[in-house]
Amino acid sequence: MADNVAQAIEWVAYAGMAPSADNNQPWMFKAFYDHIAVYLDSDSSDILGLISVGAAIENLSLVAATDGYSSLVEFVEDGPVNDNLQLVAKIRFESSGIRLNREVREAISNRRTNRGKYKRKLDKLPEVPTIPGVSLRWIRERDEIGDFAELVAKTDQRRIGQESFSHEFYKMISYLPDRHVDRINFETLQHPAIGKWIFKALSNCAISKILNCLGVPRLFALFNKSRVIESGAIGIIESGNSGPETAILVGRMLQAVWIQAELEGLAVQPMGTPTLDPRFSEGTILAFRIGYPRCNAVVSPKKPLNAILHSSPRYREAFSRNRGIVSKLEQLKLKDSRVAIAGMGGVGGGHLITLARQGIGRFTIADSDIFNVVNTNRQFGCACSTVGKNKAEVMAGMAMDINPEIDLRVFSEDITPENQDDFFTGVDVFIDAIDAFNFRARRHLFARAAELGIPVVSAGPVGFSTVWLIFDPDGMSFDEYFDFRDDMEDDEAFAAFIAGVAPAATHRSYVDVKDVDVGAKTGPSISSACFLAAGIVGIEVIKLLLGRGEVRFAPWYHQFDPYVFQLKSGYLARGNCSVKQRIKRWLILRLLRKMGRKSE
Ligand SMILES: Cc1cc2nc3c(=O)[nH]c(=O)nc-3n(C[C@H](O)[C@H](O)[C@H](O)COP(=O)(O)O)c2cc1C
Repeated sequence: MADNVAQAIEWVAYAGMAPSADNNQPWMFKAFYDHIAVYLDSDSSDILGLISVGAAIENLSLVAATDGYSSLVEFVEDGPVNDNLQLVAKIRFESSGIRLNREVREAISNRRTNRGKYKRKLDKLPEVPTIPGVSLRWIRERDEIGDFAELVAKTDQRRIGQESFSHEFYKMISYLPDRHVDRINFETLQHPAIGKWIFKALSNCAISKILNCLGVPRLFALFNKSRVIESGAIGIIESGNSGPETAILVGRMLQAVWIQAELEGLAVQPMGTPTLDPRFSEGTILAFRIGYPRCNAVVSPKKPLNAILHSSPRYREAFSRNRGIVSKLEQLKLKDSRVAIAGMGGVGGGHLITLARQGIGRFTIADSDIFNVVNTNRQFGCACSTVGKNKAEVMAGMAMDINPEIDLRVFSEDITPENQDDFFTGVDVFIDAIDAFNFRARRHLFARAAELGIPVVSAGPVGFSTVWLIFDPDGMSFDEYFDFRDDMEDDEAFAAFIAGVAPAATHRSYVDVKDVDVGAKTGPSISSACFLAAGIVGIEVIKLLLGRGEVRFAPWYHQFDPYVFQLKSGYLARGNCSVKQRIKRWLILRLLRKMGRKSE
């Protein structure tokens, strides 16, 4: 699949530049971690709508190829319909190691439609890709083009002659500034000015009748015929059978040829009329004019990316106040990102809620523990009503209440080497919020996340401060940073953890270490610091997911301590292995052991 959801969304931007019948752009996309779902607007679910979606799929496939990915399109027959959108295909991507020339991207965005005249001379036709079940036939001889133009003109005449059609037609082309992105802009039709007035008149029932009597539809059809004759060549894409899948393949073929044409300086104009007329073919066909345009070919306006990425009106409203800090497009990227959080207690619960309110749309959360009264002072989900309940399930309910559209995976069990791959499926960022004393689980999770290429954010409270570390899968590992080894005693590992997590130790002056009990795995922790940690996690996750701001990965360490007005950010080149860190670890261990002996 794409390296990340952000890359998939970039591909979707190119998909949306495809041509569509009447410029209605009847598509919608949703980027998942392992595929892109393609939806068709149910209002346009005729054959032309499906062909248009096919063209968008071809764009996706071409742009992914420029990034070195091959695409596998799975058609969804009779897919579910939601919000007037029907799921029609899922596209998966695999790294192919071969990159298509990036000039294809320009051809996609500069693609021109030419409804005007073409130069007659066309020495070379664009190269045609092979798509099983679909073929392309060229008509190049003048008299054959003339016969074809005659056929189109007759169909046009019949259709335009109908009052209802003329009304539809007018609606389709009328230029309304506020809707011009999903209707043909009159200016792009390249018709003479009088055409505008004829269309306007055709939309009035009575005038339409009079114009019919005067033979205007015939005139219009003749005008179109003269245009078709003025083509370099006519291409006819044909497939033996009809059906949604075939229509999509025809659309892919149209777009593949069009992009190739664009690369060769040619312009194209598809013709929907033959497609809709049963006399033309048994199966699905799409005809198009092609050639060197005589005057400037046009590029129609396109819907903005955020209008073709699937998001509900509720989502847009719920997170609209993020705007100004997070752009619309970034918001959509957040919606399609998955964050995994292990631990739903002191910090994990707050992390989840902070991220849910930032509009992150997908979470995988885990905790096997239940809430106890002793968690009340700091754990987000702990209240009288939740004591005795599983932490992950309680927090899942809270997150879903904030945003019911969250795609949530809940593990109310420990994450072990057996289920960790399932836990990490599709995850963009992993947040470590497990118990400070649970080194073993933490080591497994960090190691696996790094192997899977997932960055990890670890943040927690220390006194009134928060400390945090971010691990880059390609940077210094968790074990390297802390100098963790398999043969370490628990208190030795804890000392290493304390020394590495807070090298600046701004809290030292006011925290009473006597309350740390390594054996019982308890220590002091206060809600204000837990909330600080959640805020920090929210910011770092935004930076990681959106690729903005500066991320300081380990061996950078950070501590923010408002109690003593300090923000410390330092670089431990050798992690816990430096002489200074070794001395700190030794001193902490000595203190812990002394305290342990006293309490015995
Ligand atoms: C399936 C299909 C049918 C089309 N039929 C016609 C047509 O009959 N007449 C026409 O002028 N343009 C036709 N077009 C071209 C579109 O109107 C044009 O591509 C659309 O307005 C978008 O503009 P663009 O190509 O500049 O993006 C068709 C396009 C598609 C994909």
